[in-house]
Amino acid sequence: MDLSVNYLGFKLKNPIIIGSSGLTNSLDKIIKLEQNNASAIVLKSLFEEQICAEFDRKSQTNEYQYTEAFDYLNSYNQNHSVDEYLQLIEDAKKAVDIPIIASINCVSDSNWISFAKKIEAAGADALELNIAILPSDSKFSSEQNEEIYFKILEKVHRAIAIPIAIKISSYSSGLAKFVQKLDWSQYVKGIVMFNRFYCPDIDINNMKIVPSAVFSTEEEITTSLRWVALLADKTICDIVASTGIHTGEGVIKQLLAGADAVQIVSAIYKHGPEYIKAILEEITTWMKENNFNSIDDFKGRLNSKNIKNPSSFERIQFMKYYGSIE
Ligand SMILES: Cc1cc2nc3c(=O)[nH]c(=O)nc-3n(C[C@H](O)[C@H](O)[C@H](O)COP(=O)(O)O)c2cc1C
Repeated sequence: MDLSVNYLGFKLKNPIIIGSSGLTNSLDKIIKLEQNNASAIVLKSLFEEQICAEFDRKSQTNEYQYTEAFDYLNSYNQNHSVDEYLQLIEDAKKAVDIPIIASINCVSDSNWISFAKKIEAAGADALELNIAILPSDSKFSSEQNEEIYFKILEKVHRAIAIPIAIKISSYSSGLAKFVQKLDWSQYVKGIVMFNRFYCPDIDINNMKIVPSAVFSTEEEITTSLRWVALLADKTICDIVASTGIHTGEGVIKQLLAGADAVQIVSAIYKHGPEYIKAILEEITTWMKENNFNSIDDFKGRLNSKNIKNPSSFERIQFMKYYGSIE
């Protein structure tokens, strides 16, 4: 049974990548994930603010001229972050054979970009950019928001030679066109759909804004499933499905929709790294039952190009569906 897939130019032994999170922030955890058959890992993101604060700290000569805010950021950074991150990349590359994908969480094309070179020099196999822009400011059109993505990507692409993936959100007024533009730009080799952002909720008893659940549920798979099915056959770059993938069945669905690989986080937090093996077993059993010998035998079989009724994935008001509920 051949479970291998291609992602960012690497041959992965199976489609299960462990996504950026606290699951990948130490060498011990990374080794354990590899031992349990993760095919690649995305390191916990470094934040643009962390990199910029470190950059500013190092570029100052007189430490005492900092403002209080700078002191705060400095002490935060001195404790961990930037140098440790590079060290983790180096150590992980020595300790495991699977691709190590670094990750930066960014919102602008500011002076953190030179840091991408250091990530490359430390040995990272690829860089995933988690560009987090909420289109909530009515002063900016969707084109203006998108311009920020392309400015960042253009600069990072110029700075490094390792493959770049972009992790996007579904908050876009023209998602299909945006993904097409990313694909055509040739700045990225992979698109991760989608990030699951922190979301505020309201506690009506205490009249307070509170965070919603940190972990996804299985039901959340449908947003990325729809968009993977609609867009995977239209892009040259690789598409990775993310959010709500909790079982082998979830992985199979995303592969049928056309994903090249998947990223899993919440399910591994919930069940531990050993769960990767259970997911792989579920996939293998299903492949045997359906006489598939490789992922390529069924990848994309149910994407919008290959199904009889492509509008199934475009339908958002479904009379029959709602009509049957009295
Ligand atoms: C505790 C936790 C920490 C996370 N940290 C990051 C991060 O640093 N960078 C990032 O791009 N995504 C981060 N994520 C988002 C995950 O990579 C992933 O996109 C999200 O959890 C959806 O996948 P899932 O449904 O498999 O959990 C984090 C998620 C969790 C639960």
